[in-house]
Amino acid sequence: MAYNLLKGKKGLIFGALNEKSIAWKVAEKAHEEGAELFLTNAPAAFRLGEVNVLAEKTKSDLYPADATNIKDLESLFDAAMLKFGGKFDFILHSIGMSPNVRKGLSYNDINYEYYLKTLDVSALSFHKVLQIARKKDALNDWASVVALSYVAAQRTLFGYNDMADAKAALESIARSFGYIYGIEKKVRINTVSQSPTITTAGSGVKGMESLLDFSNRMSPLGNADAEECANYVITLFSDLTRKVTMQNLFHDGGFSSMGMSEAALKQYDKSFKKCP
Ligand SMILES: NC(=O)c1ccc[n+]([C@@H]2O[C@H](COP(=O)([O-])OP(=O)(O)OC[C@H]3O[C@@H](n4cnc5c(N)ncnc54)[C@H](O)[C@@H]3O)[C@@H](O)[C@H]2O)c1
Repeated sequence: MAYNLLKGKKGLIFGALNEKSIAWKVAEKAHEEGAELFLTNAPAAFRLGEVNVLAEKTKSDLYPADATNIKDLESLFDAAMLKFGGKFDFILHSIGMSPNVRKGLSYNDINYEYYLKTLDVSALSFHKVLQIARKKDALNDWASVVALSYVAAQRTLFGYNDMADAKAALESIARSFGYIYGIEKKVRINTVSQSPTITTAGSGVKGMESLLDFSNRMSPLGNADAEECANYVITLFSDLTRKVTMQNLFHDGGFSSMGMSEAALKQYDKSFKKCP
């Protein structure tokens, strides 16, 4: 059911790769809620072709840009502002990638070139997007910017590797830039810390199936899926959340407040009894 929450708003969405992507679901919902969209992803993602389907479905323009490349981002913002006829109202940063995770290297034996790439793609790209948006004065007053994070920024979850460091930086960027952009233009900047979710990026995490099961058992409301995440992000783009800024907002069914649940304890009891 749509509520017209984004009627008349225009927004730029990074990171829709395929229909499992959180950004894909956000784009669908934003379109349903009346927004006009401009979609972007890395050039390599375009070659897979699926994002064209989303563009057609949401009547959006597509523009390839590597979010680590300043020139690409500048051209992207120019193209989006041309399309929108000026400033716009929201940005979703839904970008993450770790070559160390991809190559299966463990945190105590990572490759530092890869580590820098992880930080650049998954965290610095958010700063670059914000810095260029500000320099180009691309956002309307009270615009809303959201990036996606994970609880590994606060707590150690085995297997999440250098992405944990990237998420910690991402959340800090939201606070530091949120102050500057808030004072100047009332632009709000938040991160949404989402449950583990089956997507292309999510599936790369070591032990993802077990992590999903554990997290689901630990969360009183269960894991939040990509569509539920999209619903939450839409509220943050809407005018109903105008004074929310510089926050890391957990969208995780309660996981981040838990220590041990009955459901997880029962599972642990079972395996404990099996031990000789
Ligand atoms: N899936 C999960 O379990 C989970 C949980 C919490 C947070 N998140 C975060 O959600 C966000 C979206 O991930 P997802 O799970 O939807 O997976 P996804 O694989 O669908 O999306 C990741 C996107 O990042 C894009 N990308 C990678 N390098 C890029 C670059 N250089 N320039 C531009 N785009 C680039 C990819 O093309 C892809 O579209 C990420 O920040 C991820 O860390 C995911």
